[in-house]
Amino acid sequence: MDQSTVPFRSLVEMSEVATYQLLDGKRCGDALKEEIAKGAAAVKAKRGRAPHLAAILVGNDGASKTYVEAKVKACESVGFRSSLIRLPESISEDELLARVKGLNTDEELDGFIVQLPLPDHIDADRVLQAIDPRKDVDGFHPVNVGNMVLGLPGFLPATPSGICELLKYYNVETVGKHCVVLGRSNIVGTPMSILLSRNAYPGNCTVTLAHSRTKDLTSITRQADILVVAIGKPEFVTADMVKEGAVVVDVGIHRIADVSKKSGFRLVGDTAFAEVAPKCKAITPVPGGVGPMTITSLLLNTLKAAGR
Ligand code: GUN
Repeated sequence: MDQSTVPFRSLVEMSEVATYQLLDGKRCGDALKEEIAKGAAAVKAKRGRAPHLAAILVGNDGASKTYVEAKVKACESVGFRSSLIRLPESISEDELLARVKGLNTDEELDGFIVQLPLPDHIDADRVLQAIDPRKDVDGFHPVNVGNMVLGLPGFLPATPSGICELLKYYNVETVGKHCVVLGRSNIVGTPMSILLSRNAYPGNCTVTLAHSRTKDLTSITRQADILVVAIGKPEFVTADMVKEGAVVVDVGIHRIADVSKKSGFRLVGDTAFAEVAPKCKAITPVPGGVGPMTITSLLLNTLKAAGR
């Protein structure tokens, strides 16, 4: 085709093909896991037992079951011991608190997590606050949250610290960048905003924390050099919301019905990947981006707990 007849938009699209870097969480996670496996072997040689992580799963939520099983499998892959404690949906708050207290004093255990969400009749904050901060490898206890805010040693929450590891692995520049975090959950958005504003690498960003009450969201997200999307809505971020050359980190993962797939569904993130990626300098895929990094960070925290 005579180039002069190619519409401008098509030329832009053509020139943008494959110009973005895929931030591959599987690759980065696997590299880190090799180091974790060496650390696990060293702990075993010194203490006579491998690092040991336990996970409490209450009820039958399908997604939570999948996540917890992936965490247990990851433990095996690096030579950790793992215990999956399945409890019925009907368990009372007091019974669950008693289980947590039992794990706090179990000397065979280095760290444990209580998978969220919990059933409505259980106060998740009470449960998280009952975990011994020294075993809180999710980094959700107020002591660990406080240490993170103050830049003191402690356990960092797995998803935000996994994102930091991924940015480090790909040498993403962060100093002085405008980072917009979409979503203010205690698990991802809020801690992410704190970690990226720290005087550290990755960090030293100017951070905007946007949420469901933010006005004119598109004008904010379009300012982002780094956009972390943790809003929990499938393909919410579209191309018009993203600045040319941005780095996009997509925390979401959702099943969307797709009759063309044998499984009947496909996985998508909070970002409309196909239209957003060509505008980006770098972007995480879904799956295979943030997910594997979350699990790797949990292993890192467990190794740290075991080394204490
Ligand atoms: N639910 C969703 N993400 C997490 C996580 O990182 N830890 C726990 N315990 N529950 C979750």
